[in-house]
Amino acid sequence: MRISVIGCGYLGAVHAASMAELGHEVVGIDVDERKVATLRDARAPFYEPGFEDLLRCTLGTGRLSFSTDVADAAGARVHFLCVGTPQKHGEYGADLRYVDAAVESLLSVLQPGELVAGKSTVPVGTAARLAELVEGKVPGALLAWNPEFLREGFAVEDTLHPDRLVYGLPAGPDGEVARQLLDEVYAPIVARGTPQVTTDHATAEMVKTAANSFLATKISFINAMAELCEATGADVKLLADAIGYDDRIGRKFLNAGLGFGGGCLPKDIRAFMARAGELGADQALTFLREVDNINMRRRIRMVELAREVLDGSLLGKRVAVLGAAFKPDSDDIRDSPALNVAAQLQLQGAVVCVTDPAAVENSRREWPHLDYAATPEEAAADADAVLVLTEWRQYRELDPVAFGALVRQKRVLDGRNALDRETWTAAGWTYRALGRRAG
Ligand code: UGA
Repeated sequence: MRISVIGCGYLGAVHAASMAELGHEVVGIDVDERKVATLRDARAPFYEPGFEDLLRCTLGTGRLSFSTDVADAAGARVHFLCVGTPQKHGEYGADLRYVDAAVESLLSVLQPGELVAGKSTVPVGTAARLAELVEGKVPGALLAWNPEFLREGFAVEDTLHPDRLVYGLPAGPDGEVARQLLDEVYAPIVARGTPQVTTDHATAEMVKTAANSFLATKISFINAMAELCEATGADVKLLADAIGYDDRIGRKFLNAGLGFGGGCLPKDIRAFMARAGELGADQALTFLREVDNINMRRRIRMVELAREVLDGSLLGKRVAVLGAAFKPDSDDIRDSPALNVAAQLQLQGAVVCVTDPAAVENSRREWPHLDYAATPEEAAADADAVLVLTEWRQYRELDPVAFGALVRQKRVLDGRNALDRETWTAAGWTYRALGRRAG
């Protein structure tokens, strides 16, 4: 099938290459000329394991192309909307200008019988509004909402092997036409027996925000438990293990630490609250405000813990920060808890050196006043404390004995409960972590 993908960020670029991998003829459209040139060159504009290989292979088949001209989307039977919906400046709501612009531009090429399939995370009600616009301007064209649940770091795997397909379809016979088109797009995934949920527009939009809100709530729940553990001397890691054995609860997303960041969870819960307010249902989501608060408090607590470990003052202390990305296997620094802490420490007088296997370049651009190092060894030279704030495998596997020879003071703060406390303490380190007793 001929497919277009509007927006070639994380979501769109991976979606475009993955759809070509499934055998379709795909054009990815983006207004950013540099991004398009990079993708055409089979280079990934962001760090994502496996993506560059997929890009190279699918470009090699001739089925995948990229363009800055929306006219090249003409003739596609399905047009996926994959543009960003960032938080509005100074407000909780989502900024829909890119979605609106993408749909507006598509109208110039859209033909009856073609399907616009939204994948961006949008406030509930957006699809209905866009459907009216699309059907009004191009009678016979259809709009469905088909949310995406990929995680950064696993984007290719999640796109090609999703755990479910959600189709938010128009009512009546149009819905059946749209469903068949989406089934054809995802044929190999459907054939594998992947669960499908077919629903209306509003439910599909809400599935996405509800899923991210649930994940955020789960993380903040365990971090609230961490606060209590700190007050009582209990151990949040063991607590998470113990409650996680109950498969109604599950151990996943119960890793206590610095909390969630990134381009999705924080802004999605805020946009959800804003939308609930507009709908007169704000009470239903006031708990998300607390989820957000708990999450942000972890960053402050980390700075306090660093001050405590550094004998009560950050002034002039050399601090090595291992990790800048909002999570491992990513170079994404949007709302990164690690960089937030690094910046707070620096502002409060510490001399901070940050390292990350993938995100130094992005970090330097956004936070030029911090010092950066290429390796953890370089960052830790003469450090008074080492903070592990993103749990990259490289950091989890550090040898505390050899690493200990580099620093001035063997003090480690494990912001992600990712290190083995026993081996670090055995090597003479003072070990501190959120929600756990000092080691
Ligand atoms: C999230 C969702 O997991 C995806 O399903 C969704 O498709 C995506 O948002 C999106 O809306 O596009 P992602 O932002 O890639 O994916 O990151 P997550 O793996 O969810 O991690 C989010 C944050 O939570 C990270 O900062 C991570 O360090 C933190 N986290 C995660 C914890 O603090 N504890 C945990 O136990 C798990």
